[in-house]
Amino acid sequence: MYKSKILGLGKYVPDNIVTNNDLTKYMDTNDQWIRERTGIEQRRWAVPGDGNTTATMGVKAAKIALERARLSPKDIDFIVFATLSPDYYFPGSGVLVQEMLGCDTIGALDIRNQCSGFVYALATADQFIKTGMYKNILVIGSELQSTGLDLSTRGRGVAVLFGDGAGALVLSRSNDDSDILSNHLHSEGKLAKELSVLAPGALNPPNKLVEDWDPEDLSYYPYMNGNFVFKHAVTRFPEAIMEGLNAVNLTPQDIDLLVPHQANLRISQFVQRKLNMRDEQIMNNIQKYGNTTAASIPIAMTEAWEAGRIKRGDLVVTAAFGSGFTWGSNIIRF
Ligand code: ACO
Repeated sequence: MYKSKILGLGKYVPDNIVTNNDLTKYMDTNDQWIRERTGIEQRRWAVPGDGNTTATMGVKAAKIALERARLSPKDIDFIVFATLSPDYYFPGSGVLVQEMLGCDTIGALDIRNQCSGFVYALATADQFIKTGMYKNILVIGSELQSTGLDLSTRGRGVAVLFGDGAGALVLSRSNDDSDILSNHLHSEGKLAKELSVLAPGALNPPNKLVEDWDPEDLSYYPYMNGNFVFKHAVTRFPEAIMEGLNAVNLTPQDIDLLVPHQANLRISQFVQRKLNMRDEQIMNNIQKYGNTTAASIPIAMTEAWEAGRIKRGDLVVTAAFGSGFTWGSNIIRF
């Protein structure tokens, strides 16, 4: 079996900064509520006409990752693209990236696991490297969420949390000790509706939404049972991390950097306390970007690498929890 190595990391976020105070233009909220509950200070939201879509942001992040990996799009054998906000209902955004980057007619797989999307995507890419089927895979997480939020006071419990952006990495066949040591993936579909967008979909097609128009039916906006999600997240994050570490006989003290999905600073702090980890062992950047769902881990990993907080040989751990519910972890010898 072959080993997998992260060769290059890249990120892209839209230029437009939206502070907590800016949100008071749309809804009854305030900076203090948002900071105290979530740690978020600002987020990036694309603006009409700036050219940012889920696919184009993914391409921008991917180009940086490719450059740092010293590879060209022609060297890529496969694309794994994670998002909950694809440009179209179908086809997925992975094929759009294949075209925009000018890759050969390689396979492109979209992963629909929301906040756990990047953990699932990395685990998926790892399998293709490990079996020897592919040598260089582009793994992308990208989200344009700002266009799908209810910006009225009614939607404030969700709208203030989410941001736009993309992160990418190149996963390649390793010729040294670098490897993805373990992947653990989980789901619990009985809780699917606790964090969801139920329409439009095959059960609630657009024509039905129009014909049976009900102003009280907000199923086309994200719904989140916030407290319920929070309680599950603070259990599942540590569980997923410990499951991964136990599988390779390591402990939280061995982690050089934990890069958790940036759901809420309070969740990350809870996980840190529970695992008895030091501040420098955890990457937090939700303050600047909000929750960018499938993009949050690769954006955070890229920033950590750029700041010198990830070096070759480090033990880097990712973990995520989100809609599905889904959760999981990757244990990486960088
Ligand atoms: N500004 C001001 N007040 C608000 C806002 C806001 N933006 N949003 C809600 N409130 C009000 C509520 O209306 C409520 O008022 P009331 O008591 O008068 O009814 C009060 O604040 C408290 O609301 P709660 O929802 O109980 O607030 P809570 O402390 O639970 O925080 C939060 C909410 C931040 C959403 C929290 O539950 C959370 O972080 N949940 C988990 C988020 C998460 O991790 N999601 C997973 C990833 S998402 C994905 O996978 C796509």
